[in-house]
Amino acid sequence: MSSPLENARIGIVGATGAVGTLTLRLLSERGFKNVRAFASSRSAGKELPFGDGKLVVEEATPEALRAGDLDLCLFSVGTSRSEELVPHASAGGAICIDKSSAYRLVDGYPLVVPEVNGARALEALERDRIIANPNCCAIPLTTTLKPLHDAAGLKSVHVATYQSVSGAGAKRMEALRAESPAEHNLIMDWTWEGEDSDEESKLRQETQKILELPELPVAPTCVRVPVLVGHSEAIWIELEDDLSPEQAADVLRGAPSVRVLDLPEFPTPKDAAGGNEVLVGRIRCDPTVARGLSLYLSCDNLRKGAALNALQIAELVLAAEPAASRSR
Ligand SMILES: NC(=O)c1ccc[n+]([C@@H]2O[C@H](COP(=O)([O-])OP(=O)(O)OC[C@H]3O[C@@H](n4cnc5c(N)ncnc54)[C@H](OP(=O)(O)O)[C@@H]3O)[C@@H](O)[C@H]2O)c1
Repeated sequence: MSSPLENARIGIVGATGAVGTLTLRLLSERGFKNVRAFASSRSAGKELPFGDGKLVVEEATPEALRAGDLDLCLFSVGTSRSEELVPHASAGGAICIDKSSAYRLVDGYPLVVPEVNGARALEALERDRIIANPNCCAIPLTTTLKPLHDAAGLKSVHVATYQSVSGAGAKRMEALRAESPAEHNLIMDWTWEGEDSDEESKLRQETQKILELPELPVAPTCVRVPVLVGHSEAIWIELEDDLSPEQAADVLRGAPSVRVLDLPEFPTPKDAAGGNEVLVGRIRCDPTVARGLSLYLSCDNLRKGAALNALQIAELVLAAEPAASRSR
């Protein structure tokens, strides 16, 4: 079956990184051929495997990105580089999906999880064609919370995260591999903004924006754990209406991109890694509030938390914009 992306001219910016490498793999698995790899001048000329062949890395210069020969650009280069480069690709006419924090909380830019608020992505086609991909914890959290909100109304959310080192990039994965187990630790390697970390602020504000619940109280504590791939989250929610753990499990069994695990099975990063679903389990009553539920999830942060979510957005937007109107 042919996909709306197949004929699109795609640029992967940050192609040598943890997210970019996986994005190339996902594109090649889906049979796309018209793909170019961009990274910094340090990587220009390097060859990257792509399908049965190789791609030669090009330097991501403003001129290259605004040349007008790309339909879609997927950025995974970090916030300051995105702020510098995304406007050039947008000026060249490409739909830009950015995985950094540069546009996520800026008014007017859609922040999209296709299963939750996919229609918002289409709004970008009316403006400068820039769409933000959320934080790797906000994606599985909102994928899980949206169906529960639709069923019983969310009143508050508490969440504790257990985030793998791949969330901090390819170099941190190498560093963990080189560490002895005796050196492993749980850390909070974020930037501090008053009493919260920037990661906690992102998770709170992005969750509110994606769910379109700006007043929803969200209290996160974010922790980095010595795991290579796969983020986990312990979640406590208070609901407006009654919803038993069994009813919540039934709601989530019908939700897209969610797989419910029943005891004795429970979500682990190892089981989530390499998969496309959010694994949700340990659904039970939280006796500390009137209508409280507690649950636990694991998700591949590089796939659904980053590269796959961005590809799903790309498919949505390109399907809405026929190839003919793209070749301008
Ligand atoms: N990892 C995750 O789970 C995750 C999830 C969601 C969002 N994100 C976001 O995705 C972005 C990248 O994450 P990552 O984990 O893939 O990082 P990474 O492994 O450190 O890769 C960074 C990429 O950016 C490129 N780059 C650096 N400076 C550049 C420049 N001046 N011009 C062009 N390219 C440049 C690097 O190219 P060189 O190799 O040439 O230096 C590399 O390809 C970050 O914004 C991150 O917040 C990551």
